Amino acid sequence: MNYLNPFKSLIIWFLMVWNVIAKLWDNKFNSSILIKNIMKDHRVLSGMRPTGQLHLGHYHGVLKNWARLQNEYDSYYFVADWHAFTTHYSDRIDLEKNVSDMIVDWLATGLNPNTATLFVQSKVPEHAELHLLLSMTTPLSWLERVPSFKDQQEKLKSKDLSTYGFLGYPLLQSADILMYKAGLVPVGEDQVAHVEFTREVARRFNFVYGREADFEEKAESAITKMGKKQAKLYRELRKSYQETGDDESLVKAKALLGEQQNITLGDRERLLGFIEGLGKIILVEPEALLTEASKMPGLDGQKMSKSYNNTISLRESPELVKQKVNRMPTDPARIKLTDPGDPNKCPVWQMHQIYSSEQTQNWVKDGCTNAKIGCIECKKPIVDSIVSELEPIQEEVAKYESNPNLIQEIIFEGSERARVVAKSTMEEVRDAMGITY
Ligand code: TRP
Ligand code: SF4
Repeated sequence: MNYLNPFKSLIIWFLMVWNVIAKLWDNKFNSSILIKNIMKDHRVLSGMRPTGQLHLGHYHGVLKNWARLQNEYDSYYFVADWHAFTTHYSDRIDLEKNVSDMIVDWLATGLNPNTATLFVQSKVPEHAELHLLLSMTTPLSWLERVPSFKDQQEKLKSKDLSTYGFLGYPLLQSADILMYKAGLVPVGEDQVAHVEFTREVARRFNFVYGREADFEEKAESAITKMGKKQAKLYRELRKSYQETGDDESLVKAKALLGEQQNITLGDRERLLGFIEGLGKIILVEPEALLTEASKMPGLDGQKMSKSYNNTISLRESPELVKQKVNRMPTDPARIKLTDPGDPNKCPVWQMHQIYSSEQTQNWVKDGCTNAKIGCIECKKPIVDSIVSELEPIQEEVAKYESNPNLIQEIIFEGSERARVVAKSTMEEVRDAMGITY
């Protein structure tokens, strides 16, 4: 029997190595599931007020970003038509046209109604209900502290911004976000404070209404429902988070809960809250996903914005694009063709940096500083680039414009889809507040 010994040890050795490989493999596999779940967990939501025509600044700054995100996340984009009233309540703007134009421009620039959920705020009246209910727990001082409140009142002196609606603007925005349990909110710098405010609103709501008398018992029984192995992992992650506060355990625990098939939504929320030692998490705290400021300059070199009157709209005709670009100011030193200029002092050069190839840029630099080209000549490639950028967008716009029923349908379907989520959140909110009769 002696001769079996080397074999035996070989087999044992083999099993050991195999075990290690299997473990490593298992880990790798598990972590890729984790990552997927974290991604899936992140719902994206953002909105835009329908206060006027969309322009190249929106396209380069916001819309291209939204279109990219729709392929990575479960994305919700909506027209914040109620928000338009908070600053423009007395203007007789044609909201109906603005709303449908906005949706058309979104579609024409690449948002896909089958990939993202596109909807209109007022078609989901649950937003108003959530706004009202959240107003019960939101301290007045929090609203008065939001930076945009005082800023806008200062800036827009001609408007009456002393209304209840204007003060509540950020809270309505919180309702928009919290309704969809959105984890990520792509916004520009100016909106980050509103997302921070939303986090506080959610935390307070959960604190006030998320506590159940038998919370711990319910949480414990939910843990056992996950099965032995998963329950153990959950407990370990919770312990590690509570002892060391390390975010990685929190993220992993959240992902783990996301994977559970045999626990109810209510239990999932309890266990989420239980990790952090709170009550049930009913409303999810969102994070701002800061949109890089658009590098698209306006016609005068400042940021492109309607309030500076320096925009090129997405629906601008080629003739108007040409006119507008040709009227752009240039380096003031170039009065005559023979006066050399400095591209760095010229807004046209900023546009070349966005639109032109290196070769063209070299031609501009040389031509301008050595007075070899005229400014109209220099602007020609910009006109051509913008016109050809807008051409396919405008073709799409024309297609949708010729089919207004389709736009109505897209708005209706998107809003109905959003409403399914909104209704379910409202049920939980009403339930937590005891409005179930
Ligand atoms: N306040 C945003 C703006 O003016 C628009 C908006 C309303 C919004 N509700 C939102 C943006 C919710 C993100 C999420 O641009
Ligand atoms: Fe501007 Fe071009 Fe004229 Fe130079 S040549 S000033 S870059 S428009």
